[in-house]
Amino acid sequence: MRLLVCGGAGFIGSTFVRRRLVDHGDDVTVLDKLTYAGRRENLDGVLDDIRFVHGAIEDQAAVAGAVSGCDAIVNFAAETHVDRSISGPEEFIMTNMQGTHVLLEAAREHGLRYLQVSTDEVYGSIDSGSFTEDSPLQPSSPYSATKTGADLLVFSYFHTYGLEALICRGSNNYGPRQYPEKLIPLMILNALAGDSLPVYGDGRNVRNWLYVDDFARGIGHTLAHGQPGEAYNCGGPEELENLEVVQRIIELTGADPALVEHVTDRPGHDRRYSLSSDKLKRLGWEPQVRFGEGLSQTVQWYRDNAWWWEPVRSGDYRDYYERHYGRALKV
Ligand SMILES: NC(=O)c1ccc[n+]([C@@H]2O[C@H](COP(=O)([O-])OP(=O)(O)OC[C@H]3O[C@@H](n4cnc5c(N)ncnc54)[C@H](O)[C@@H]3O)[C@@H](O)[C@H]2O)c1
Repeated sequence: MRLLVCGGAGFIGSTFVRRRLVDHGDDVTVLDKLTYAGRRENLDGVLDDIRFVHGAIEDQAAVAGAVSGCDAIVNFAAETHVDRSISGPEEFIMTNMQGTHVLLEAAREHGLRYLQVSTDEVYGSIDSGSFTEDSPLQPSSPYSATKTGADLLVFSYFHTYGLEALICRGSNNYGPRQYPEKLIPLMILNALAGDSLPVYGDGRNVRNWLYVDDFARGIGHTLAHGQPGEAYNCGGPEELENLEVVQRIIELTGADPALVEHVTDRPGHDRRYSLSSDKLKRLGWEPQVRFGEGLSQTVQWYRDNAWWWEPVRSGDYRDYYERHYGRALKV
């Protein structure tokens, strides 16, 4: 298949690109703006096997150049960090909504299949039970609101123009090459550096953890077997409180448990996410990696790949961290 992978230099997109090359022998073009979260290094070892286009999804000319000759578009490109969406929502609206619109127009013009990568955060928080694809959409942050807006636009292109459009909604991902502002790499790298481990509020927020390769396979499965006009949830096999995740990282890194520090909670912090993935499982997808195994592989990857994270921890991320947590990062 000839795929245009937008946002393919990010955490999940680069994992997806690797899998498509190895498992399917696809012809891949990556279109990526290379924001702070997107790095060519994420495609290390496969850059010679793909076509890389540096550009933004909201830029019609860049999209027109990248899409020619492709059979399908898979869109990962997004601003993705909830905390950044609270302090500055504008870029989220531009990339997540306007950018999706430009891609949908390109898919319509060329008659392409279109897969939108989305998130469990579109459903909001749930105290008990799990969200299905029929649950109401109740996003609570600017990040999740823009992802929800994009999902609704995708459905509208199916209903109005008959576009072969599908959505795959993942739960919280973890694994190699995740930018260190997100919970698991933040805690791993701080634990390895002997730095404090900042936990929001009481640390009892629950997330449904999904290993990144399992999500990459779920997205590929939806692309190949999903029905246009449908969304498919792709959730991980386990749910854990944040504090439990941090404790497991402390065990795996040998860090001092006294490094845990409870910090002021994120405004509007969703308490629990939980997805039912029965619809995607009926198509034949199953998560393969249990949390314990995936976390220990992830810790090992960060131990072995200081070349990847050292430039990040000593660059702009330091300023972001200091502004956000009100303290300097140890490097
Ligand atoms: N990380 C998770 O836990 C998770 C869970 C479910 C769904 N998702 C979704 O998966 C997708 C990928 O998430 P991720 O964690 O890999 O994100 P990421 O922040 O690591 O990567 C995003 C990528 O998009 C690129 N990008 C940003 N704005 C762009 C623009 N305007 N034009 C072109 N490229 C642009 C960045 O350079 C980067 O390479 C997102 O759509 C996100 O909403 C993420």
